[in-house]
Amino acid sequence: MAVDYTTHDGVAVITLNNPPVNGLGLSTRAGIVEGIERAQNDPAIKAIVLTGAGKAFSGGADITEFNTPKATQEPTLATVIKTVESSAKPVVAAIHSVAMGGGLELALGAHYRIAAPGAQIALPEVKLGILPGAGGTQRLPRAIGLEAALNMIVSGAPVPSEKLADSGLFDAVVDGDLAAAALAFARKVGAQQGPHPKVRDRKIEHPNAAGFIQFARNSVAAIAKNFPAPLKCIDAVEAGVQNGFDKGLAFERECFIALVQTPESRALRHAFFGERAASKIPDVPGDTPVRDIKQVAVIGAGTMGGGIAMNFINAGIPVTLLETKQEALERGLATIRKNYEATVRKGKLKPEALEERMALITPTLSYDDLKNADLIVEAVFEELGVKDQVFRRLDEVAKPGAILASNTSTLDVDKIAAFTKRPQDVVGMHFFSPANVMKLLEVVRGKETAKDVLATVMKLAKKIKKTAVVSGVCDGFIGNRMIEQYIRQALFMLEEGALPAQVDKAIEKFGFAMGPFRMSDLAGNDIGWAIRKRRYQEHPDMHYSKIADRLCEMGRFGQKTGGGWYDYKAGDRTAYPSPVVDDMIGAFSKETNAQRRKIGDEEIVERLVFALVNEGAKILEEGIASKASDIDMVYLTGYGFPLYRGGPMLYADTVGLYNVERAIRRYASRPNGDAWRLARSIAELAAQGRGFNG
Ligand code: 3HC
Ligand code: NAI
Repeated sequence: MAVDYTTHDGVAVITLNNPPVNGLGLSTRAGIVEGIERAQNDPAIKAIVLTGAGKAFSGGADITEFNTPKATQEPTLATVIKTVESSAKPVVAAIHSVAMGGGLELALGAHYRIAAPGAQIALPEVKLGILPGAGGTQRLPRAIGLEAALNMIVSGAPVPSEKLADSGLFDAVVDGDLAAAALAFARKVGAQQGPHPKVRDRKIEHPNAAGFIQFARNSVAAIAKNFPAPLKCIDAVEAGVQNGFDKGLAFERECFIALVQTPESRALRHAFFGERAASKIPDVPGDTPVRDIKQVAVIGAGTMGGGIAMNFINAGIPVTLLETKQEALERGLATIRKNYEATVRKGKLKPEALEERMALITPTLSYDDLKNADLIVEAVFEELGVKDQVFRRLDEVAKPGAILASNTSTLDVDKIAAFTKRPQDVVGMHFFSPANVMKLLEVVRGKETAKDVLATVMKLAKKIKKTAVVSGVCDGFIGNRMIEQYIRQALFMLEEGALPAQVDKAIEKFGFAMGPFRMSDLAGNDIGWAIRKRRYQEHPDMHYSKIADRLCEMGRFGQKTGGGWYDYKAGDRTAYPSPVVDDMIGAFSKETNAQRRKIGDEEIVERLVFALVNEGAKILEEGIASKASDIDMVYLTGYGFPLYRGGPMLYADTVGLYNVERAIRRYASRPNGDAWRLARSIAELAAQGRGFNG
């Protein structure tokens, strides 16, 4: 039973009991209506308390029911709230921990609300691409005023209950025993004569509602570009202000039904569940005991090591930072300090907090200082020989049970594990640059990595606010293995007739934060060159365009050399199309006898994105990723894939795998078609009319 019903001396207590967050699924909704009716029919009951068991009052509508028949089956949330609101006996919502979305809307339907301090109060629907669909856009402005409500609805951000103590939302915010306070409050109001107050009957007072709404609309339009929900939130609030509660409610419902079916909402919900699903590893039970991580060490204080260290100290975990030379150590520390100083300048960190954080770092040149570390993350040069030396040394000094992690981006984690006598304790922790900023962490699972090591790293990732995704061992892991195919297509298209600016523009219009050529100029074209040189030896049969090598031979490594695929002016990161490069591209096409032709934006987007999808499908087939949503999380959090499209695999589902397959077969039959080897699973799923996500 998703709802408990108890009576306490004239008061009925209806307790939502649907773990983990008392989502308002069908059985919970039915339970509430049943409880209210039971209380009405019991003459001994004078008042009703509505509350939640466990760690929430309610986290809102059950998102897993969206777009299923259960979502619209009676009693709907609207019916539940109407039942609560029209109860002749007063209903008191007793709110603790979390009242979000439909949960807050339910509470707004009660006659009275009391809350414990520290409860998170929010209408976060907009983050799922929808709007509050059970009266939130109508009742919240009546409860707390137009401006405060619009802010909460459009941002979706939680507000702590104590901050709303004087807002008109709560009748009381009580310290101590909420259940006892709720019962006492219910007895008091139960003794009073009805009718009891309804939020819907309150007025929205504002000196210039129309002006404020217009201001809000302008501000939101500028930032919500590809997301329809925020503007709809404003429309719905406006409808209530202009036309009254009932018309506003009807309009809100209409908007909700339309928004829940949009691809943007599907993408946002996919990302919500994808993030949570990523932390679950199929063969590692959720209750696997984890190792205690109190002290971390980082080896190498370069670009990555410094950023990695910052993640831990930001979470209050002390870090020992090891380098080979004093100068390198000092340089690393200075960079970390500089980063914090920039944060202080932006007002996001107090100056004293800077010193507290710096004090959590113990710099050292000696491996002896790593003896107490529970986790050691290696971020030294990307050479197997150097990793060999470091891991052998770590094996000597690290305490038993310490986790030994490598931040390698291209090397074989199993080989690195084999440098030690404890391969079960070795794992890849592949951070992305800048490591203190980027959300993504690929956790690379070696052949022998122990399950509790994985469980520990996944838990730690949450603590340092990363989105961790497990990848098996393969060249490039999930993200870089896929991006290689994307870059390959980008380069072939230059040979075939496109120019860098055209490719970048097309994919940026699709929604990528940055196209492949601007990205490459930023990262440094020499990095890809070094990787390709290795590839030519390892995979002599693999067909690459050599056009990027030609650019590097011209010394055009990107922004850092003042020119790459584009020209750059000193002190200016704007990418200006480069006539020299365009000439080089034309000449290169001639040399390779490529027939230059006009390549349309649609082809550019398809070739780039389907290259990701095709490789992603192979990654799934090989078990390198355990689910399609993991791949999407990698691309959403590490590669600038547009959130409103939900990641490459969800996008492929949206396009339809039948269409993806046809396009890949078409490109495979054209020049440079040998780069397309259709993934078996795409054809299989397409034949069954299915997608990667079911
Ligand atoms: N429906 C279904 N499942 C939900 C859920 C919801 N509304 N909210 C959370 N869950 C699930 C999560 O998927 C997760 O499941 P798992 O354990 O199987 O992975 C579990 O509950 C715990 O979630 P978290 O890991 O996020 O737990 P936290 O304690 O960190 O956070 C929370 C709890 C603050 C409630 C957070 O889960 C959250 O922000 N949830 C989303 C809240 C939301 O968006 N509500 C609005 C829903 S839409 C709505 O109400 C429409 C209405 O207007 C008609
Ligand atoms: P870097 O060259 O900036 O830093 C490496 C640091 O390691 C230098 O400060 C060097 O002095 C130090 N070092 C070298 N040998 C050492 C040893 N034996 N003991 C202690 N310190 C030693 O390199 P970067 O970019 O930080 O890369 C480090 C690792 O992170 C590499 O494995 C790389 O592949 C990986 N990586 C790099 C990313 C990037 O964007 N730069 C992204 C993800 C992973």
